[in-house]
Amino acid sequence: MHPKVLLVTGGAGFIGSNFVLEAVRRGHKIVNLDALTYAGNIDNLASLAGNPAHEFVHGSILDGALVSNLLTRHRPDAVVHFAAESHVDRSILGPAAFIETNINGTFTLLEAALKHWRALPEAEQGNFRFLHVSTDEVYGSLTADEPAFHEETPYRPNSPYSASKAASDHLVRAYFHTYGLPVVTTNCSNNYGPYQFPEKLIPLMIHNAISGKPLPIYGDGQNVRDWLYVADHCDAILSVLQAGRLGGTYNVGGLNEQKNLDIVNTLCEILDELHPAGAPHNQLITYVKDRPGHDRRYAIDCSKLQRELGWAPKESFHTGIRKTVQWYLDNAKWVEKIVSGEYREWIKGNYSARN
Ligand code: NAD
Ligand code: DAU
Repeated sequence: MHPKVLLVTGGAGFIGSNFVLEAVRRGHKIVNLDALTYAGNIDNLASLAGNPAHEFVHGSILDGALVSNLLTRHRPDAVVHFAAESHVDRSILGPAAFIETNINGTFTLLEAALKHWRALPEAEQGNFRFLHVSTDEVYGSLTADEPAFHEETPYRPNSPYSASKAASDHLVRAYFHTYGLPVVTTNCSNNYGPYQFPEKLIPLMIHNAISGKPLPIYGDGQNVRDWLYVADHCDAILSVLQAGRLGGTYNVGGLNEQKNLDIVNTLCEILDELHPAGAPHNQLITYVKDRPGHDRRYAIDCSKLQRELGWAPKESFHTGIRKTVQWYLDNAKWVEKIVSGEYREWIKGNYSARN
């Protein structure tokens, strides 16, 4: 793909920052709009300090005037939209932020993108893309023997998070069908890897195990997720950006279904080897009350992406999970800063003084 200018939203979060680092490595120029919520972390982008290929903008996708201004000023080839509230448990305890960011935020972004796209010369209109990053959770839950989700599987979201993402997917689809905005959507399974906020299963379990704290398994631990290494998700997004069919959706998955309990046992075995604690780490496993409405199984059929765009996951779970555990061991300070809450105060102070 020729070098492009990309307006990335949510590029200081887990997947967004992995994407920004990889896109810059591949020669693209990034304008990174992120509100730095509790999940956004400017430290993820420290290696880009002073790099003219990355411009960080501290602001919200809910600010339509700011988004319009960035579109006019930078004339990006594409908007790559990651920004969201992303944690299912938080959506259960406080759904309002999910409605605001995931639905109203996506709506605001679509409105600004449409206005900008309509004003472009025809040649530029043809090249413009709005890539919406979504989730497999919009399809609901599978039983043990149902076939994997494919692009035509009906939407059946079960949590406020997945319902808000489903609503945003529908808005994106509608802006293509009604107004012709050149959109494409990806629906991906569970990601893991560096920079994942330690509220999600894998980094939470690694952090707790290292700290000698209980490893809380929801329900019976038999829920299944399809795990994909984050670099493979970023690679899929770049492939879809380059050659995805307009108005289309692409499922992205790891071909790697695993039960939660097996994931946690694997993490414990790796830690027993890389960070021995005297006693096996799996002695810390504790069963706790289940997540309300907990989806039983996700599985992704990503054959369309493989067939049409030649994408396939490159990282095996065996190598990806070892790399991930090693990354968290090597980056204990990154985690400590987050869990102490100190980094948020620092960011607030630093940015309010500069604005
Ligand atoms: P994350 O929670 O780690 O990061 C979200 C980022 O969005 C943060 O940097 C946050 O500051 C930013 N943000 C939140 N509200 C904003 C706003 N109003 N304006 C600008 N920025 C804002 O999320 P993630 O896990 O990296 O997920 C990124 C995207 O990928 C989300 O849309 C999510 O639904 C989707 N997704 C995630 C996974 C996964 O396993 N994590 C899988 C499939 C799809
Ligand atoms: O499928 C894609 C989705 O994956 C993304 O859209 C979401 O943004 C992302 O957060 C993730 O959602 P999950 O709910 O699957 O991820 P989480 O890491 O929260 O939980 C994974 C599984 O582990 C789930 O079955 C709940 C369970 N779990 C989670 C936590 C945090 C536990 O058993 N104990 C825990 O403490």
